[in-house]
Amino acid sequence: MFMEIKGSSAIVTGGASGLGEATVKALSALGARCTVFDRNESAAKALADALGSGVNYVAGDVSDPDDCQRAVDQAAEGGSLRIAVNCAGIGWVGRVINRDGSPHDLSMFQLVQNVNLFGTFNVMTRAASAISATEPLADGERGVIVNTASVAAFDGQIGQLAYSASKGAIVGMTLPAARDLAVVGIRVCAIAPGLFDTPLLGLLPEPQRDALGKSVLFPRRLGQPAEYGSLVTDIVRNSYLNGEVIRLDGGIRMPPK
Ligand SMILES: NC(=O)c1ccc[n+]([C@@H]2O[C@H](COP(=O)([O-])OP(=O)(O)OC[C@H]3O[C@@H](n4cnc5c(N)ncnc54)[C@H](O)[C@@H]3O)[C@@H](O)[C@H]2O)c1
Repeated sequence: MFMEIKGSSAIVTGGASGLGEATVKALSALGARCTVFDRNESAAKALADALGSGVNYVAGDVSDPDDCQRAVDQAAEGGSLRIAVNCAGIGWVGRVINRDGSPHDLSMFQLVQNVNLFGTFNVMTRAASAISATEPLADGERGVIVNTASVAAFDGQIGQLAYSASKGAIVGMTLPAARDLAVVGIRVCAIAPGLFDTPLLGLLPEPQRDALGKSVLFPRRLGQPAEYGSLVTDIVRNSYLNGEVIRLDGGIRMPPK
């Protein structure tokens, strides 16, 4: 009924910052051994040092399958990998046609898919393979994968062509992945965050961040990364959550711009 987090191992991509970092903190507070997989080595190391022996890290790029295998192998050491959370992601602003009428740059479109979509695919498939080799828990459950979409998968704004495509694909993978993995007792869910106060948004000036917060239905503020981390632990623990995409957004529906 409830999956035990204590004693399980977890891999968290993008775990060195923002929503991923909050996930690492939430999972390790509940006794999971966490592997932070992030391309920002110094931030990953700093987090692992701050949180202590239950947290280790791998520096690498989620769009590189070899890096992903290395990270999953490290997370699976000891044989209790049960949790994979994909948070690594990047944004990009570009319209179908630029102001001068020229078409959207293909290489930037591809870069966003490489990180957000193929990165999620790389880690999800490799983690699923490792989790499928573990001993089953109660009810035959072996583990859970949580991917990070965005409200941009549903309410993509002007300039979010590449980003929305990558996040829409993560939404689209959720049910078939859950169906594929049911046979080995692995659940798959996705979270579609709204506007969260992470270093990504921290780059904006305070008044602009305040205004964004006020655009949320209720509560009228930006989401806190800890609220994301808390939902991840809820999904991991609740064995009846599967094949679902959960909006975590304070009820916001994004306007065209
Ligand atoms: N912050 C928001 O409001 C928001 C809203 C919706 C969705 N999201 C999604 O949530 C996820 C986390 O966003 P965040 O706000 O915490 O961002 P963030 O920039 O704070 O953290 C992202 C982390 O991913 C890492 N990363 C980026 N590219 C990588 C790569 N190729 N390989 C390995 N690591 C890589 C970065 O080094 C960073 O540590 C992203 O997928 C983002 O699209 C965020």
